[in-house]
Amino acid sequence: MHIPVLQKEVIKYLAPKTNENFIDATVGEGNHSLEIIEKIKPKGRILGIDWDPEVVQNLKQKLKRMGLEERFIVVCSNFAELKKIADRYNFQADGILFDLGFLTWHIEESKRGFSFQKDENLDMRYNPKENPLTAQEIVNKFPFQKIVEILRKYGEERFARRIARKIEQERRKHPITTTTQLVEIVRKATPPWYHHRRIHFATRTFLALRIAVNDEIENLRKALIQVPEVLSLGGRLVVISFHSLEDRVVKEFLKDQSKKGIFEILTKKPQTPTPEEVKMNPRCRSAKLRAAKKIK
Ligand SMILES: C[S@@+](CC[C@H](N)C(=O)[O-])C[C@H]1O[C@@H](n2cnc3c(N)ncnc32)[C@H](O)[C@@H]1O
Repeated sequence: MHIPVLQKEVIKYLAPKTNENFIDATVGEGNHSLEIIEKIKPKGRILGIDWDPEVVQNLKQKLKRMGLEERFIVVCSNFAELKKIADRYNFQADGILFDLGFLTWHIEESKRGFSFQKDENLDMRYNPKENPLTAQEIVNKFPFQKIVEILRKYGEERFARRIARKIEQERRKHPITTTTQLVEIVRKATPPWYHHRRIHFATRTFLALRIAVNDEIENLRKALIQVPEVLSLGGRLVVISFHSLEDRVVKEFLKDQSKKGIFEILTKKPQTPTPEEVKMNPRCRSAKLRAAKKIK
């Protein structure tokens, strides 16, 4: 099961009240939103967005079982379409939440190659129906220099060149189609000491490919600029990011909006999980939460 991250802080900054409406732009399994919906009773509604069709299907079934489907609408879409989706449902939000990245479900059950610990097809798309770019396409077709850039920029991988070089050598022999093949390539490309550290040696390569496949930084940028149009006056924005590039996009966006007098920043410094939360849920170790309020 996916353990929601920084749940107390999300509620603190979104501050949901009776009959308010919220957009959960990365609704996932609805863990955060199910807490919000309790607090906006009896008429408050949630518009949940997720790009992954299977995740959306699972959540719709869960909400039906719980009898919540009237007040909790779920849409399968990229949050880069935020304004269009809100308009379609005539939805003005008192709060918007972005909890970026992926679910434990993606790693454990999706069978789309998100995990370097499973032997799966190298895919990594949240939405295989809409997104034509797979991780396979990148490793088999992209030029050497482009792969180096992806591994460096999104993975901060110090052995980016060596890994890209090995990918180039291997793909000349046969196509790279599975996670196991890729892990083996990274292993061969990196020195032995790199294989015995706390973080698995393929972590950064897999992270970088996932971000590139799903264009995660650009989609976030596109979504954030639409937030002021969708949020009511006094509405709150909360973003949880897991990557320094994402956090930088959020920080710059909020700085710019606060300069223009549109948002008041509520978190002078990003909120991070306590050591206890990290112990219970190691995945959240890099989480950073930033929040702001629309004041104009
Ligand atoms: C960390 S999970 C959210 C978990 C959720 N807050 C919960 O409590 O269950 C992030 C979700 O965002 C979705 N996602 C990733 N990129 C997206 C995008 N561009 N548009 C919409 N959803 C996206 C993923 O499919 C995933 O389900």
